[in-house]
Amino acid sequence: MQKLFVTGGAGFIGSAFIRLALARWPDAEITNFDALTYAGNPDNLKGLDDARHRFVRGDIADREAVLAALEAGTDAIFNFAAESHVDRSIERADDFLRTNILGTQVLLDAARERGVRRFVQISTDEVMGSLPEDDSAFFNEESGYAPNSPYAASKAAAEHMVRAARHTFGLDTVTTRCGNNYGPRQFPEKLIPLLLSNALHDEPIPVYGDGQNVRDWIYVEDHCRAVALAYERGEAGGIYNIGARNERRNLEVVESILAALDKPRSLIRYVKDRPGHDRRYAIDPSKVERELGWQPVETWESGLAKTITWYAENTEWISRVRGGAYRDFYARQYGAEVGAK
Ligand SMILES: NC(=O)c1ccc[n+]([C@@H]2O[C@H](COP(=O)([O-])OP(=O)(O)OC[C@H]3O[C@@H](n4cnc5c(N)ncnc54)[C@H](O)[C@@H]3O)[C@@H](O)[C@H]2O)c1
Repeated sequence: MQKLFVTGGAGFIGSAFIRLALARWPDAEITNFDALTYAGNPDNLKGLDDARHRFVRGDIADREAVLAALEAGTDAIFNFAAESHVDRSIERADDFLRTNILGTQVLLDAARERGVRRFVQISTDEVMGSLPEDDSAFFNEESGYAPNSPYAASKAAAEHMVRAARHTFGLDTVTTRCGNNYGPRQFPEKLIPLLLSNALHDEPIPVYGDGQNVRDWIYVEDHCRAVALAYERGEAGGIYNIGARNERRNLEVVESILAALDKPRSLIRYVKDRPGHDRRYAIDPSKVERELGWQPVETWESGLAKTITWYAENTEWISRVRGGAYRDFYARQYGAEVGAK
């Protein structure tokens, strides 16, 4: 039997990871520890095998709560919990520092106290900053830290705390850094679910700046498989960059989705750019391919088709998440330019 402790498992990627983990490791019992912030959604956990999945509501920055939920003999902590949206970190960074940095440190301390075998930190390519636009440069594991947003800086700080726990206390840690994920159950503040949910409602689609920023997209299940492999085979103290060699300009993403839904380009509204907006992310995944034998299963076309189908079939899920916190944020962020919801 494997005991796994997954934080942030009611969010987009964490819930996909729990689905994958239950199927991949039939002997796994999972504690899903999640504070259910605006981004945490119990609907994301529907249909999971309750005999092997235990949900505990709690805050990773709350030491007592973490220790109460974390059993001795736990095989691994997978730390997906985070404040994850760059624009919110630009508005106000306090929660990002508390969850992403302090929360990670609390989990690292608890891992030592409970004798957890391996700590897997889910990080982001954004800790490495922004690349030039000319296609010649890629992020690899030797790229330096250059976080540009408060979100990215908090995730970089978390990576440093993980590194320090490895170096100082010999904790067995692995850090994965991926690019932009897409797939089912992503909160519609992020680009792809935002434009899917707006397009499905025939509402204007806000696009930052000139729409030419480049992101390296990965289907969420492909990312989760790489995290599983990093747990199974990753080198202690290792960092693995995970990318599907799939760079796309934001405008290209918008146009692909409008075309797939047969919606007009006239829905696009260019809005004031995000302050400090990183221009290009692109990951060189050679290490994860070579050392962990990982390859993405989905192409951009197949992953996008699955994503579009999921959102088109789950309009109730969309309606429920487009309430309170989402509506307020949307109005602050885009209301003046595209109108509030
Ligand atoms: N979404 C992406 O494209 C992307 C890319 C790179 C890295 N990541 C990283 O992957 C992880 C998961 O991202 P996501 O997109 O699923 O995020 P998400 O915002 O969808 O989910 C975050 C989850 O964490 C929970 N949470 C937040 N604060 C918490 C706290 N203090 N204690 C316990 N739970 C808390 C929320 O309730 C939510 O369920 C994050 O660490 C993020 O930095 C995401």
